Amino acid sequence: MTLQLILNIFLCILLTTRVLGQLSVYDIPPGSPGFQHGNSSQAVQFDSHSLFIDGRRIFLFGGEFHPWRLPVPQLWSDILQKMKAANFNAVSIYVHWGLVEGKSGELNWEYHRSLEEFYKVAQRVGIFVIARPGPYINAETTGGGLPGWLTNIADVARTNQTGYVNAWQSYIKDFAQMTSRYQYPNGPVIAVQSENEFYVSGDEDPTSTEYMVLLEKALRENGIDKVPITANDVYPSGNFAKGLGEVDLYGFDSYPNGFDCAHPPQWSELANYYISGHQNSAPWAPVFFPEFQGGALDGWQGVGYDGCEQLTGPEFANVFYKNNVASGSTAMSFYMIYGGTNWGNILYPGVYTSYDYGSAIREDRLLSPKYDEVKLQGMFYHASPQLLTSSILASGQSQTYTSNSGVFTSVLGLPEGPTKFYVVRQNSNNVTTPTSFLLNIDSSVGQLTIPQLGGHITLAGRESKILVTDYAFGSNFLQYSTAEVLTHTTIDSIDYVVLYVLPGQSFEASFGSTSINNVNLSGSPSVQAKVLNGSVVLFGTLSSSTTALVRFGNTAVLVVDKFTATSIWNPRTIPSFDLSPDTPSILVKGPYVVRNATIIGSTLELVGDTNRTTSILVVAPSTVRSVHWNGSPVSMTKSNLGIGLTGTIPGPVPSLSLPNLKSLKWRTADSLPEVAMGFDDSQWVVANKTEVARSQKPFYGKVVLFADEYGFHSGSFIFRGSFTGGKSSAVQLSLQGGSYFGYSAFINGHFLGSNQGFNGSDIVNATYSFLQGTLNNGRNVLTIVMDSNGLDTDWNANDAFKNPRGIRGYQLIGGSGDFDSWKLTGNLGGEDFPDKVRGPLNEGGFWAERSGAVLPGFDDSKWALGSPFVGIPKAGVQVYRTSFALDIPLGTDASLGFQFTRAPTSNYRSLLFVNGWQFGKFISNFGPQTVFPIPEGVLNHHGMNEIALTLWSLDSSGAKIADLKLVPLGVLSSGKEVVTDAMVSPIYQDLRGPSN
Ligand code: GAL
Repeated sequence: MTLQLILNIFLCILLTTRVLGQLSVYDIPPGSPGFQHGNSSQAVQFDSHSLFIDGRRIFLFGGEFHPWRLPVPQLWSDILQKMKAANFNAVSIYVHWGLVEGKSGELNWEYHRSLEEFYKVAQRVGIFVIARPGPYINAETTGGGLPGWLTNIADVARTNQTGYVNAWQSYIKDFAQMTSRYQYPNGPVIAVQSENEFYVSGDEDPTSTEYMVLLEKALRENGIDKVPITANDVYPSGNFAKGLGEVDLYGFDSYPNGFDCAHPPQWSELANYYISGHQNSAPWAPVFFPEFQGGALDGWQGVGYDGCEQLTGPEFANVFYKNNVASGSTAMSFYMIYGGTNWGNILYPGVYTSYDYGSAIREDRLLSPKYDEVKLQGMFYHASPQLLTSSILASGQSQTYTSNSGVFTSVLGLPEGPTKFYVVRQNSNNVTTPTSFLLNIDSSVGQLTIPQLGGHITLAGRESKILVTDYAFGSNFLQYSTAEVLTHTTIDSIDYVVLYVLPGQSFEASFGSTSINNVNLSGSPSVQAKVLNGSVVLFGTLSSSTTALVRFGNTAVLVVDKFTATSIWNPRTIPSFDLSPDTPSILVKGPYVVRNATIIGSTLELVGDTNRTTSILVVAPSTVRSVHWNGSPVSMTKSNLGIGLTGTIPGPVPSLSLPNLKSLKWRTADSLPEVAMGFDDSQWVVANKTEVARSQKPFYGKVVLFADEYGFHSGSFIFRGSFTGGKSSAVQLSLQGGSYFGYSAFINGHFLGSNQGFNGSDIVNATYSFLQGTLNNGRNVLTIVMDSNGLDTDWNANDAFKNPRGIRGYQLIGGSGDFDSWKLTGNLGGEDFPDKVRGPLNEGGFWAERSGAVLPGFDDSKWALGSPFVGIPKAGVQVYRTSFALDIPLGTDASLGFQFTRAPTSNYRSLLFVNGWQFGKFISNFGPQTVFPIPEGVLNHHGMNEIALTLWSLDSSGAKIADLKLVPLGVLSSGKEVVTDAMVSPIYQDLRGPSN
């Protein structure tokens, strides 16, 4: 036995005991001791390095998902399983007060608002939950989650003022009591966030501080006592890290690449304030990012989410997320991991229907290339507990670390132990060309310059690598590797480790081992091995689609190119929250996603998805004799790699039979009967307020015409103002609907004009002259139909969400007369909306919505035939209905969407209702969205679907829709949960009565 070998064995033992043994507590004076490791008996704890769950350190790898943005509870498991498959161990959720409490005092936690259901799904999937109830959430949703009725109170939101504090009591109480039952270990909830990015200027700001104190008190008093209460600071400025309102666990958010989706190649440089910001704010806690940029938002007139996906794509995730690790972070959650949809008026004016967000999992639930990158990192972080006690030992661009000053190196390691992580990247994010260098490492065998056998380490432009030295896996260890570690697992006493580099790059990896005599190479010839100073050194240059296997002793090294690496899954075979990298797991290469792996007797049951006929490689214990894929046996043979079994699993059905919407029978009706003089508005609300409590007052006119003051908080509103006599020459109006809103005005049925909040303008002022012959000497009726894109958000806590929606000012010009009365309507019932399933915001005030014509079950047999492709020849609103059946084969996950083509000359706004759910708002002038994905469960994939489409022509020349298609966005053969939720949605007869 050589000295080297003895040293290697000693190191192995040392490394393994460090990983499995008791981990030391970091000695930094704590903030609040309640969840401090060492001070607390709670199941969730933390110290300055990481969180602990059940006494085990975890790398918190989380992503944000808003269950209410995917209002089909049976699809939640799909998102969570896809997250789990990428080694996410936590999901962060916002809870939406405005959706839960549509009327003050009436809370509804059912269906897509069901927290309990969500917690149960998360528990089943085995993923922790960070719950973020606000009450203010921002989140690009109407009012930032504050309910519409809150606009009517005087007291300022997000302060300690009584009216506001009283307003959120029931909501927070319900939330906390419900959530308290699911606190870990009784459920998946491991943290609860108080408020959102709540910024105060220290003690000078007592109204805000006291509000935070009251909120945390309410959370605690209602049972949130087993998990830390957290805060997400906007910037590491220490808000609520200590002192009054101090939370248990402090974190800060970061969106370093900004939101300019029109210029995706323009990157920011990496932030260098994380380490100092954390040191100045909460050095006793881990560097925790409650929100780290996972995508970007896009608004009306934007470029579309492809640009956002590129701006924050796989290279971004590669460089920026690894930089978080280089900054000492072991806890981060990406905002968003799945964005979803702003269906049914949940948007705020800065975004449109899609909230895809350029996330790793797209709105249509398909996986983007960024998913691949986060999965590779997730697997590594899970497999590398040594990271959780590492500190930053050194960092910089000095040539102490590399031969190239264009490379920035951060060295993380255990001060007293051998394992080190070298996070390398190019100095500047503006460099988009590759660079090569040698790395100087300080390893257990002394100082080395690697690679030792010649060649270089290469970084592509905008690439970062985490290279390990003295890295334990199973009972073996890597001395160093210039390829990155994907994961490792021990199966039948063989320690498998998977290494990867980009195609075209070379690598070198050195293992402590016995001798070259029994090194066995298979797969690609591009990987070779030799013995150097008693270690087995692997090296080679990888092309695309490389899979090589090297075996020696009880070690099996899979070397793959990065793209092949993305097809490797490492499911655990024991259902759990996966606290330990030692949980038994297997390796599966090939499928689109692997959701689950269970070994029952000698059968391995795999559940997952494919996007084509796929050849798979399975490395599982030798007790496994047969493999089932989604319940069906797969014929498997021994792989010629020398390990594992291979077989072929089926792809999706080759094509779907989808209806041609243009050739369907469409029926139509006028959806703006309110312009007619004789329209019966006797049931409408009389606008009788002359004062408002909020600080945003009417500009002019006697009565208040803010829709929210009368209980209408979503979508469109219609106002009818009456005046007597024909002497006035014009009407002057100030209309406020939030950016990109629209309106049309009519006098006695004659069209006066329309306008929209172009370029984001919030208020439109207009004066309309009455043409000769349009006024009566008796009663005249001015009808205004307008929509809003939701309430503004309140990021600055200055009550901006109370900016009115409606008519801010009105007056008649000439004739010295005034309006006799005003009436208005919005959604049917206002705050007493009948549809408790779809919730308070789904419907607006168009006739088609109030009458229930947008609901399934509505009888349109008496309507005339007429299609949106013909449209209307004048200004006004028309509604069209059609229906079709779908018969998507079982076991198929078909992502379907409606694709609009705009008639270039038409100026219109459209709402698309699918089985009563408003799942699309299309504004022809503003775009950019033309494809509207509809989740299965809103769309019935196994039966009838009823579609309603409104067409609001803003011009007297009329409008039509050039084309509308139901298109497949992606088709998978899938093991996801079966969706029957379409059956749950109420129909016309449930909501409006027996027949229309
Ligand atoms: C954050 C906020 C989130 C979301 C995000 C931008 O500041 O906390 O709610 O609005 O910005 O998408």
